[in-house]
Amino acid sequence: MGIPILGESLQFLHKKAKFFEEKRKEHGNIYKTHLFGRPTIRISGKKNLEKLFAAENKLLQSLGFFLFQACKAKEELKNLFLKRIKEDGKSCSQQFPAVLEKFCKSQNSEFDNDDLLNGIFELIFNAGETTSTSAMCALIHLSKHPEVLEKLRQELSNVDLLAPPEENNNSEVEVTAEIFSKLPYLDCVYKELLRVTPAVGGAYRRVLKTFELEGYTIPEGWTVVLGIRDTHELDSNLDDPLTFNPDRWMQADSSKISFFPFASGPRRCPGKGYAHLILKLFIIKLCQQCNWTLSEPNPEMVAMPTPRPKNKLMCSFNQREYNKE
Ligand code: HEM
Repeated sequence: MGIPILGESLQFLHKKAKFFEEKRKEHGNIYKTHLFGRPTIRISGKKNLEKLFAAENKLLQSLGFFLFQACKAKEELKNLFLKRIKEDGKSCSQQFPAVLEKFCKSQNSEFDNDDLLNGIFELIFNAGETTSTSAMCALIHLSKHPEVLEKLRQELSNVDLLAPPEENNNSEVEVTAEIFSKLPYLDCVYKELLRVTPAVGGAYRRVLKTFELEGYTIPEGWTVVLGIRDTHELDSNLDDPLTFNPDRWMQADSSKISFFPFASGPRRCPGKGYAHLILKLFIIKLCQQCNWTLSEPNPEMVAMPTPRPKNKLMCSFNQREYNKE
């Protein structure tokens, strides 16, 4: 558990995701550590996560995004917003009337400046970082796997999504909601993207009531991290869980794949549908309109705080001609 007060925080800050990897190799699916003044238990494994996400508010309580909670930038941004509101001499409800009205109606209550700003920040942080991280990872995976990009383009071509504008009254073919159901391979690519490089690596919870798991006692008051990334990486149902291989989602038993990118249970991501839409549209537009080259064809990735290239990575885009490579 490391040195007093600091526990293993320094090792964690130095090694980041590798810290958890080493612990997992040594201790398995459930192990304890001491991070940032809190005794913490990290738990992985499909069955364990299914069980614990379902026990939300009974055994566990959400701590929100760890990074978000810890983020000093949040306080600074909030102060800037409040200063701006004061300068304008308007209250928060006048600044954001539509948002506030919606919030109040849905909660049947009044919100003050602080509540509203917290809500707005939660949305900005949760929505922005996750989708942009995933979009960047899509660029990297598709660049490293040209055969996947080719297969995707073939699927889009089958539903005329690669048709040049001149074949469609000189406008781009519209992507409609119905068309997604005709793009099963796109769905596989999207899922594999979130499986191999999940934007949120773990869900942080406080233990409400002591319970037993795999023979271990998980004590009340401790912090538990439900390891989303670890569970994806350790999936014993998969041949090579670390490899980006969208075809695995085509297999009949794909329901057995460990897959928790949006968590699960009452606190699962409310932006899941929106993320589906944005990321699938992003991939479609990439396939339709771009060819791109990375400055490093096989960039080394790190997983924390979010999946990203370890070193600076440049991407140059060229407009793609319709129906041409
Ligand atoms: C690829 C994109 C995204 C991923 C992988 C993702 C993942 C997650 C995960 C794992 C959680 C649960 C964390 C926990 O249980 O502690 C979460 C919560 C949340 N997400 Fe997302 N998210 C994504 C996009 C979005 C978008 C686009 C929005 C908003 C439009 C959004 C809004 C939220 C909010 C508000 C919460 C907190 C819910 C709560 O505490 O009850 N997310 N997200």
